[in-house]
Amino acid sequence: MSDSVIINEVGPRDGLQSQSGELSLEQRLQFVEALLAAGLTHIEIGSFVSPRAVPQMAGTDELARSLALKAPEAELSALVPNMRGYENARAAGVDPVAVVVSATETMNQRNINMSLDETMAVAREVIARGKGEGVSVQAYLAVAFECPFEGAVDPARVRELARQLIEAGASLLVIADTIGAANPAAVNAMMRDLVADHGNARLACHFHDTRALGLANVYAGLEAGIRRFDASIGGLGGCPFAPGARGNVATEDVVMLCEQMGFPTGIELPALLPVIDLISGMLGREQGGRALPWLRGQAVRDAA
Ligand code: COA
Ligand code: ZN
Repeated sequence: MSDSVIINEVGPRDGLQSQSGELSLEQRLQFVEALLAAGLTHIEIGSFVSPRAVPQMAGTDELARSLALKAPEAELSALVPNMRGYENARAAGVDPVAVVVSATETMNQRNINMSLDETMAVAREVIARGKGEGVSVQAYLAVAFECPFEGAVDPARVRELARQLIEAGASLLVIADTIGAANPAAVNAMMRDLVADHGNARLACHFHDTRALGLANVYAGLEAGIRRFDASIGGLGGCPFAPGARGNVATEDVVMLCEQMGFPTGIELPALLPVIDLISGMLGREQGGRALPWLRGQAVRDAA
């Protein structure tokens, strides 16, 4: 099993979609360009959703077109909730796209106004369409551990949905702890089962750091054989209406963990610092994961 780890940067989508202020398209472009310049090779740049539902993501088509020529080597993906989103993403040249299935009935309703069965049907249609058109379609399995509306999620249900999505032809299955309620034992057990079912090449994990268990969950995923993780620079994210809610596990934290444990990510930690400064300035709020103070100190020592 390879020890290399892929970091998929989701700050421009998961991180920005929950911010109270909207960034301009120019700022979003600058942000993604800075991430590319810092050496990130996998970036989720936005989503093709209703601008009424998520105004922060309006204009992702323009963003994708601006980036297309600049980043031919990078994997720039976008989230699509339905066939309309797929078509808009394709018209803007996006490949891969990512569909979202939530593991519970209520979360699908609240997120995209569809039942779980409807969401699965749409996911299957988008995956099949992608296959026919030579486009990779990834699938998020959201609230895979706990749902904010229905509570704990049965791992057997997740395993079954995962099987259906992989068999339908999803190029990647991202197991997402959307609200940051997973713990390392649960992550390890679930990811071991999924790796046993499907191997690790088409699996990834997506954690939020709501309860300070983000990095521990990444570690548990690594131990189970997972070699691809979503992360968001500066730990960007968190809902302004949910006090205490945190963003994704921070890219700098995950890179530090992986590199220190001997899992190469291809990302230089110091290169991330200016991007954290940039996005903090744009949002008018200091961003940063748990390793940031140490990283800054390290940069000062290296410069001395
Ligand atoms: N992109 C842009 N607009 C879309 C769209 C898409 N993929 N799909 C539907 N729409 C538009 C419709 O044209 C319609 O527009 P109108 O009000 O101007 O006529 C409006 O959105 C509602 O369409 P409808 O089919 O009735 O959908 P809905 O109201 O049931 O909403 C979604 C469904 C999926 C469009 C909406 O819930 C959504 O965008 N959710 C995104 C949630 C999200 O991003 N969550 C975070 C990531 S997991
Ligand atoms: Zn998320």
